[in-house]
Amino acid sequence: MSESDPAEFRPSSPKPFRRRVRYRGTHPRKFEEKYKELDPERDPETIAKVVASGKTPAGQHRPILVGEILRFLDPKPGERGADVTCGYGGHSEAILEALRPGGRLLALDVDAVQLPRTEARLRGLGYGEDSLVAKRSNYAGLANVLEQVGWNDGVDFVLADLGLSSMQIDDPARGFSYKHDGPLDMRMNPERGVSAKTWLAGCRVEKLARALAVGGDEPRAESLAGALVDAGARGMIETTGQLRRIIEGALPRHVDDEERKITVARVFQAIRIAVNEEFSALEAFLARLPSCLRAGGRVAILSFHSGEDRRVKQHFRSGLRDGTYRRIVQDVIRPHPAEIADNPRAAPAKLRWAIRAAEMT
Ligand SMILES: C[S@@+](CC[C@H](N)C(=O)[O-])C[C@H]1O[C@@H](n2cnc3c(N)ncnc32)[C@H](O)[C@@H]1O
Repeated sequence: MSESDPAEFRPSSPKPFRRRVRYRGTHPRKFEEKYKELDPERDPETIAKVVASGKTPAGQHRPILVGEILRFLDPKPGERGADVTCGYGGHSEAILEALRPGGRLLALDVDAVQLPRTEARLRGLGYGEDSLVAKRSNYAGLANVLEQVGWNDGVDFVLADLGLSSMQIDDPARGFSYKHDGPLDMRMNPERGVSAKTWLAGCRVEKLARALAVGGDEPRAESLAGALVDAGARGMIETTGQLRRIIEGALPRHVDDEERKITVARVFQAIRIAVNEEFSALEAFLARLPSCLRAGGRVAILSFHSGEDRRVKQHFRSGLRDGTYRRIVQDVIRPHPAEIADNPRAAPAKLRWAIRAAEMT
């Protein structure tokens, strides 16, 4: 065993003893082998090194455009806000700090696996029930959750950071990524709905071709859908690795490696969007958003896909025209090149904001 193999480690804190993690080579490569990153409190130095190298530590998510979002939302002591896509809680943490003293944050996420971890992390930072209310919910149901918690007159601000968290992408067990082999699941909430494997097995060619075109802008939607439906019906797509190989095998020979990779990424994205019904959830959320905001309430939405950004832009523009919103962002806000260099996952992010009118017509 080489020097850099992890020694059997015994925590100084009274946490339960963990058996050492074994892996091949000098550095852990697989998600589940990265035991130091997965236990950040025990090894902050490793986390700092991973972040300095422009990567995201396993089991964490690096929040994007935090300064810009905070400057716009401007959470103040005593206010009430909602972070409807809490994820790892990076934005929530910054907001909670600004809400002190007396403010309250409703933190939602549809992910039944991650939300309890994030809630425990934020509680560990000292945010009790008096400042943080965490609920597992689809953001399409924000209005109902506000009623449940008795915030019937709405909130002063809402943040939505759409898409996937790094914890979801990086963990092969969640089945989102073509980069790691795992069960083909792709559900943001694995306790509800059907997995991507089941969804694909029951898909007709036309439905899948439409999903690939809408969610992936895939130019070969028809031919890829034919190949995938055929393989799915024969029970040949059970893992992310199998899905990747079938997509690659269905492409014409002249397609180069780069285009192959981009096509795989587009198809994975489109299937994920369809399995989680992401566009219909966003539309339902936007339709009820103004009624969730108090007069003058602020909303910031971070999107990562042209289909998401288009829906947000159209909603804000029509809301400005009909008097629902008093002001909206003029031009979309993108991360600074320095943020992208530091965290390449920030590259596709687009931020839009709006301020609700005092009276809605
Ligand atoms: C980009 S991450 C958010 C990261 C977060 N801002 C942070 O600082 O860690 C997106 C999160 O939105 C959640 N999500 C996606 N669609 C959702 C929906 N319809 N309702 C609620 N949460 C959703 C995902 O489960 C994921 O945790």
